[in-house]
Order: sequence, then C-alpha cells, then structure tokens
Amino acid sequence: MKVLGIETSCDECAAAVVEDGRNVLSNVVATQIPFHAPFNGVVPEIASRKHTEWIYAVVREALDKAGIGPGDLGAVAVTSRPGLLGSLIVGLSFAKAFAWARGIPLVAVDHMKAHLYASRLRKAESPDEDPPPEYPFLGLLVSGGHTIICRADGFDDITVLGTTIDDAVGEAFDKVAKHYNLGYPGGAVIDRLAREGDDGAFRFPMPSLHKGEHRHDVSYSGLKNAVINQLGQFRVKKDAENHGEPRPEDIAASFQKTAVEILLRALFNAADDSGLSTVVAGGGVAANSRLRERLAERRNLRGVFPPPEFCGDNGAMIAGIGYQYLARGDRSPMSVTASARVEGFKKRYP
Ligand code: KG4
Ligand code: ZN
Repeated sequence: MKVLGIETSCDECAAAVVEDGRNVLSNVVATQIPFHAPFNGVVPEIASRKHTEWIYAVVREALDKAGIGPGDLGAVAVTSRPGLLGSLIVGLSFAKAFAWARGIPLVAVDHMKAHLYASRLRKAESPDEDPPPEYPFLGLLVSGGHTIICRADGFDDITVLGTTIDDAVGEAFDKVAKHYNLGYPGGAVIDRLAREGDDGAFRFPMPSLHKGEHRHDVSYSGLKNAVINQLGQFRVKKDAENHGEPRPEDIAASFQKTAVEILLRALFNAADDSGLSTVVAGGGVAANSRLRERLAERRNLRGVFPPPEFCGDNGAMIAGIGYQYLARGDRSPMSVTASARVEGFKKRYP
C-alpha cells in the first residue's frame, strides 16, 4: 500500500510517498530556513504561514515524483505531535481534507517515534541493503527539541530511559551558533566548522550526572553557559595566528566534542545497564559526523543511522510509521487534534 506522509511540525514543509512502510518513492522537503535565518531561529508565525502557502505544492510534487495520482494512495499519515501548534495544524487540516476527499483512512502520528522509525526506510532506487534493525534496541532521539535515550521493543513500544534535564542537544548547538554568529541552523554549521578546528583548544566541563538515578540523563545548560558566558575560563591553548582571539573553528570543535561526549556517556551507561547492543539514532543531530564516528569506535555496540536525508524532518518517516499503525488496524478520527507536547517524552521532568 502507498501512503502519503505529511510533516509540518516545525520549519520544514514536507511530504512523501512510501510503499509498505519501507520503500520511499518520493521525499519532498521544502525548507523555510532562508525565512527564519535573519532571526537566527524559527519564528512560529512565519512557519505556519509558509506551510499554508506551500503545502499543496509540496504534496503535489511528492505525488508527481512518485509517478502516481491521488487515487493510487491507500492512506494519509500526518504528524500531529509534538511541535509548533500553528504549524502542526496546517499539515493536520490538509491531511484531513485530503483523506476525506479521497475516502481513504487517516492516521495521525508522533514525530519523535517517526524519527526513530527513519532508519527502517530505504530509497526505492537503491539496491536492497541491510535489513532493518530487529527489536529490541536502544533508541537515541536527538533533535532541536528533544534528547531521549530509550528502549524500543516495537515501532510504538518505547520506554524512556533517560532524557535531558534542561536543554536539548540540538538546542545547545543552535544557541552556541547564534551567540557567535556562526550561521543558521547551528548544528550543521558547527559540524562543518569543527572539522577545521582544534577540539583541545578549550576544555569544557561535563555535567555530574553519571551516578544514581541520572545515569542515563544528560544536561546541556552548563555546557551552553560555559561556551557562551565563560569561554575564557576554559581556554587551554591560544592561537597566535588569530592574535590571541579565540577562533570560531576551535570553539565549534571543542564544544562539539563535549556535547557528543555528554550524550555518549549516558548512552553507554544505558547500553551497559540494559544489555542492548544496537543503537538506532534519529533526529537532526543524528546527522552529526562526530557522533557517528565516536559511536563507530565503540566496541560491542552497533550504531544504526538513517541516511542523512531521513535524519532531519521529512514526510517519509511519517508515511513509514503511519503504515505500521494502519497495518495493525489503527485509524484516527476526523476530530483528531494537534498537541505541542507529548507527556511521555519528558516523563520525570515537566
Ligand atoms: O529533527 P530536526 O530536523 O527537527 C526537530 O525535530 O527539532 O532537528 C533539528 C536539529 C537542530 O537543532 C539542528 O541544529 C540539529 O538538528 N542538527 C545538527 C546537525 N544537523 C542538524 N546538529 C549537529 N550536527 C549536525 N550535523
Ligand atoms: Zn524532528
């Protein structure tokens, strides 16, 4: 069955067609980055307006690229939570109208569970690679709004083992980049700059969360504060070529090193404690090159990452997980609504 997936939870207006929950026939992502870049962050009202303007054309293009018409679709899947409310409502309302007009089922899905599903997708034109990872595995969900270490026993059966007690990891990347005017969005820029920098130029502190009930949790506000407000205190080396001024490349490399180590310390604790030896990553930060390298170095732990185009927000992961709900008989009513937050993901910390 071919499912249309619609994703408008933040600043990407996205639609895709996926067959049988795995084969991606098209994946269209219209990014709003140029419209938010002058503000160094997503402006919710601009995001909702752009989704309203673009959603029809994005869906149309997803169908055209898949080489199908609306009548070939078996169902519509759409993100209904979590995200920016005004943005979610655009995609959700469009999906409802589409499903009603075609007389096909609608299924509203969770954006973060969809991120974890992304590694099960394959591009239709690529030869059949590795089979999808078998459950159970450890999930590492890392985005602009969430940092979750979980145990996944099924596509919809997720137990949160650890989370951030303050900022999300992607948020820390974005805020550091914003403060030093490195560019927007921050994660990809820092990842790129870090390759030219010395990761030993600054030695930033790690949070002391490695014991007791916080063994699987992370914290980023201390690191963010150190990099933004107390940079000089953590300087190890001075760069003569830059007249003693800190080089943005060195700040990026040293920050990224610590940000990744914070994540991996909690993840490795969760792997040791759970006995699970496969980690499936998802979310925008899963595109980070250092995270991928460091995880690959760890013995006895297999890291599974979605292809880069399925790490950030996209409609394919929505259509993919949507198919699984449909296959077990789930349907969403036409009264289904959007939610900005999902309780379970910040279980212990409101
Ligand atoms: O999943 P996503 O596209 O949207 C949300 O659901 O939040 O994640 C966006 C986040 C942003 O914070 C962005 O800076 C970060 O992912 N990001 C990265 C990289 N690419 C995107 N962070 C680190 N390294 C990257 N290469
Ligand atoms: Zn996302």
